[in-house]
Amino acid sequence: MQRERIVNLRDEAHIGKKVLVQGWVRTFRNDQFIALNDGSCVGNLQLVIDREATSDELKKRLNTGAAIQAEGVIESSQGGGQVTELKVSALEVLGEADPEEFPIQMKRHSLEFLREKAHLRFRTSTFGAVFRVRHALNFAVHRFFTEGGFFQMHTPIITGSDAEGAGEMFQVTTLDLNDIPKTDSGEVDHAQDFFAKPSNLTVSGQLEAELGAMALGQVYTFGPTFRAENSNTSRHLAEFWMIEPEVAFADLKDNMDLAENCLKFILKDVLERCDEDLAFLENREAQAEKSLPQDQRHETPLRQRLQAVADAPFQHVTYTEAIDLLQRSKPYKKKKFKYPVEWGVDLQSEHERWLVEKHFNGPVIITDYPAGIKAFYMRQNEDGKTVAAMDVLVPGIGELIGGSQREERLDRLKEKCAEFNIPEEHVWWYLDTRRFGSAKHAGFGMGFERLVMYVTGMTNIRDVIPFPRTPQNAEF
Ligand code: 4AD
Ligand code: MG
Repeated sequence: MQRERIVNLRDEAHIGKKVLVQGWVRTFRNDQFIALNDGSCVGNLQLVIDREATSDELKKRLNTGAAIQAEGVIESSQGGGQVTELKVSALEVLGEADPEEFPIQMKRHSLEFLREKAHLRFRTSTFGAVFRVRHALNFAVHRFFTEGGFFQMHTPIITGSDAEGAGEMFQVTTLDLNDIPKTDSGEVDHAQDFFAKPSNLTVSGQLEAELGAMALGQVYTFGPTFRAENSNTSRHLAEFWMIEPEVAFADLKDNMDLAENCLKFILKDVLERCDEDLAFLENREAQAEKSLPQDQRHETPLRQRLQAVADAPFQHVTYTEAIDLLQRSKPYKKKKFKYPVEWGVDLQSEHERWLVEKHFNGPVIITDYPAGIKAFYMRQNEDGKTVAAMDVLVPGIGELIGGSQREERLDRLKEKCAEFNIPEEHVWWYLDTRRFGSAKHAGFGMGFERLVMYVTGMTNIRDVIPFPRTPQNAEF
């Protein structure tokens, strides 16, 4: 008999059907009822075994976490909470889980505890829901761009360039670190290295995506990205996934519209496809927030919040206006901000959160940042001080998307390279696109894990990627 997935067995239409199911025991109670989960959905299938006919020896092996298979007939459920249940005629334990040792018991475990057991945390309802939603989000992204006429481009993971210029790169080398070859002048002799020059894991696929966009018109990348920034926050990973569209002939306005449409499409898509998992996560959030003071709890439930964002236009503000708003804010006047607020400084998380959560109370796009705090490739504005940059901030997360119109003027770009100490011979290929058929273009990067956090209501980025990589931690 072929295995049926539980997600397909829960409505009346299946009553009377003989099936085989396989999964993991969540609970076994009253010597009779097994709650079985096979990962296909957050809900369990109730299996009813014959109390008398089942041996004590078999019953003893039906512990939480055990893998089992059962055959039987789907019946209308006597108990509340489910429409169908399985009347079991044959039962087999495939793999036991010793209750003394299996760490995932049916009590509520803390997320911190489960992070240490990341290899087993998939077995909990919370992580099952998170990773199914993550999958759905992944496909929503591909659907949005594919339907919009974009082509996915696989940009390199090993590269010689530092697109963001932040110097947060993991080096890639095959040199023997215990016996590093040196040149006569005492420097590392990269000529002997695998690529015959220094190379690193990519911090962004953007520069290469731009090359593709300048021929294919509109492309996007969706791949792993690496940053060796030593910041142990709830929103940073050393290895994360990023979505980066790049569009030829587009300006900053087009770019903002694309970001807004993209986010709204994705939200609507998962609200429709993942209602059961999102309902579970919404409830989980409400439970978790019970221990928080009233003013730190969400007033609106998760799905309603996401729907509101999908329906309302995003707000816009320039960096200069944002600084002004912050300087007139209560926390600024009461000296509650830890970091300074003045024109020219980078906005810190505390500032972004005030803007988005207290002032605008919804997503906001901040544009036209000072040139000095943004990357070399951003298009210079006419004021000579700012660049055509945009950050999309959302409540609870802060920066979800960062992007810009790109500098398409060769002379200006060369000036920027000089200012940022980027040798032209390192980016000759990038400069070439400005030499041949240059045109305005724009794009952005959306952090995939930040998107998953936003949609699932999880508050730590380590809980939305299967095996997080953070400073001092690369277990599993
Ligand atoms: O703002 P960032 O650094 O922009 C870029 O990398 C551009 N090249 C994007 C582009 O224009 N094509 O990163 C983009 C997004 C951020 O807004 C954030 O959501 C996410 O990537 N991000 C991180 N997510 C998790 N961990 C980190 N360490 C992240 N750094 C950035
Ligand atoms: Mg950014």
